[in-house]
Amino acid sequence: MKLLVFILIIALLFRWEKLSTARKFILIFIIILLWSYKNVPTANLDIVPKPQTMELVGGRDCRINSKTVIEVKDSVNQFNAKYLQSYLRNEFEGDFKIVDEKDKNKIELLIDENLAEEGYIIDVMRGCVRIEGGTEKGVFYGIQTLLQMLPADVYKKDNDKRIRALRVPKMTIEDSPRFAYRGMHLDVSRTFFDAEYIYKFIDALAYYKINNFHWHLTDDQGWRVEIKKYPKLTEMGAWRGAYEVLKPAYASGMERNGGYYTQEEIKSIVKYAADRNINIIPEIDLPGHSKAVAVTYPEILCDIDAKHYSVQWESNNVWCVEREENYAMLEDIIAEMAELFPSKIFHIGGDEVNMDSWKECPKCQALMKEKGMTEVVELQNYFVRRLENILSKYGKTMGGWDEIIDGGALRPETVVYAWASPERGIESVRQGHPTVMQIAQYMYFDMKQSKDERGLQWAGVTSLEKAYSFDPIGNFDLTEEETKLVMGPQGGCWAECLQVKDYVDYQVFPKLLALSEIGWCEQGERDYEDFQRRLYGAQYARLYAMDFKFRVAPPEVVYQDGLLMAKADNDILTIRYTEDGAAPTIKSEKYRKPIKTQEPEKYRFATFYKDRSSIARGAQNIELHHYLKPSTTVESNIPFFEDINRLVDYDLNTYCFTAREVGDGDYIKFTFAEPVECQSIGMCTGYYNLAVYGIMNGYIEYSYDGENYHRGERFVYDIFDGYRAYCHPEKPVKSVRIVIDGISEHEVNGVQDLRIE
Ligand code: ACM
Ligand code: ZN
Repeated sequence: MKLLVFILIIALLFRWEKLSTARKFILIFIIILLWSYKNVPTANLDIVPKPQTMELVGGRDCRINSKTVIEVKDSVNQFNAKYLQSYLRNEFEGDFKIVDEKDKNKIELLIDENLAEEGYIIDVMRGCVRIEGGTEKGVFYGIQTLLQMLPADVYKKDNDKRIRALRVPKMTIEDSPRFAYRGMHLDVSRTFFDAEYIYKFIDALAYYKINNFHWHLTDDQGWRVEIKKYPKLTEMGAWRGAYEVLKPAYASGMERNGGYYTQEEIKSIVKYAADRNINIIPEIDLPGHSKAVAVTYPEILCDIDAKHYSVQWESNNVWCVEREENYAMLEDIIAEMAELFPSKIFHIGGDEVNMDSWKECPKCQALMKEKGMTEVVELQNYFVRRLENILSKYGKTMGGWDEIIDGGALRPETVVYAWASPERGIESVRQGHPTVMQIAQYMYFDMKQSKDERGLQWAGVTSLEKAYSFDPIGNFDLTEEETKLVMGPQGGCWAECLQVKDYVDYQVFPKLLALSEIGWCEQGERDYEDFQRRLYGAQYARLYAMDFKFRVAPPEVVYQDGLLMAKADNDILTIRYTEDGAAPTIKSEKYRKPIKTQEPEKYRFATFYKDRSSIARGAQNIELHHYLKPSTTVESNIPFFEDINRLVDYDLNTYCFTAREVGDGDYIKFTFAEPVECQSIGMCTGYYNLAVYGIMNGYIEYSYDGENYHRGERFVYDIFDGYRAYCHPEKPVKSVRIVIDGISEHEVNGVQDLRIE
């Protein structure tokens, strides 16, 4: 419009002399009018989850503007009206009064009991938008769809760019969900996320029509729910650190690190979520994953000496099954929590128990004998059934990870959370249990999203497309009855690798939107390409306005025939690059065409969405580092689980784990057959390419003669390499030592091969 006015002015200047005074006035008036005219934006229709049907009916658009009111009847939809009003006020110049009398320019909220409980219809008419829901839940979801039609900034806190009006095409949307259960799980134990973040997370679940939040409140690395009868659980069990009873873990550092939710905070969060149709399912993870309890109340453990490690390398983290006082303590805990959480489902974990301590515990063995059990897994079933009974006293149905179906029958109503494989989910429904499908290979959002990104990968590298491809029912030839037992999908986010600020956002967004469609849309209506179109066309802008630090897909980079070529996932992303190995910034050179070079390993590329960057990466089809591989011997005073010679085979995938905690005085010494000329020698600790289980305190030192040593760097934490230490010798090096001089995190630590360049 402004351009048009500009052209008009230029054109007029040429003819100005020839115009009469009256015409001059009229034209100046028109120019002022045109200049002050603001384009009225049009509604976004790229909605997630995609509504079942959306029919545009044509004709003049409806306008939502500053005079629009919100109409509700009686006491119904009062929260919904206020919720809608607050978002409209954030986006428009206008009051959006809530009224109960008829008005022409209105958004009307109604209940139509003929619709499904969470279903809704939106009719956009000439002056009015009508949202009808089967219940207030349906109306709430209609409101979410309407909010998605508004400009993205509707979600922005303190939005200061309000609009006067929005054109919404006349249409009818009819919508309802495929699954009644649509869940998202978050581990707040391995990394603690404060209440403020939980509110924000719940907001996002509501925006994307997810109706269950599975709150993983306890695990080995922290107990996060205040229990008045057992205050030590949070006074001690919620904090990790060098001087705490709970050791540092997952790069939590030497300082006191952690936190918990008070009962008052939990009540507020539960209410906030319930208003937004989100049920909060609490989880206390039992009888394994209980280190945080065991360090504060060690009497819960079997009374044995041997160490048995869990798959996460934790020992002494399993409740004794025989000890009767344990059930009294658990009932006390459940009694307090049952008051806080109205959820029918109460999740007791049940996963990954190392049962070896029960095999050695005389009391657990006596119990097996008394009950005529032949397999130790029956003890787990016994423990879990005791919990079922306690929970039912408090009106709760038990939920648990899929291991709970092993070792004996459970109450049929017990809800199983299948995670290990789709087959485990099928086994669960065939046993007659309502089953939530949180299958790790698709629905664990903490997995790596591509090979060189951060994240775990024990369940595979999980791209957005792979997550989107998940169908909770799948092609498993289920009977109708079995199909009905599939409650719905759940996304999961474990927090071992989320200690770095904003990484939870990185792992969860935009995958949460894939989850949203898996749960809401019919399988036949889902199409990844169309989903991607709506993501890039509309949804990233929304996530940006919501201030989630979502993942930007990194570019695909290849080196071929002397040319470096980079390709972005979508045209709205910009690729930038550097020539010195540094991560590109928003100021780096824009990539426009293939780069001719003989030194491809020096380049790094990243994609940008606005000011948000992807990870930086070099060409994916070449070695970026040329590590030297001199013949070397290695010795250490530390016992390792694996053959120590794995540390000198220069295969970074064959590292060693210490068979005990390391500390002051421990060392690893590498001696080269011949002095090695190099620029740097470094060691990264922990798992290769995964920044956990590293050595925190110590340094690297190097020797030119094998006798006198020079200090290199101390171990410092890097988000990709974990705790690592480097040195930069000036002459050929004969030997290198890793010297440990303080406590370490975890009970065991990974040590990798030297990186010599
Ligand atoms: C799990 O991933 N251990 C439920
Ligand atoms: Zn025992």
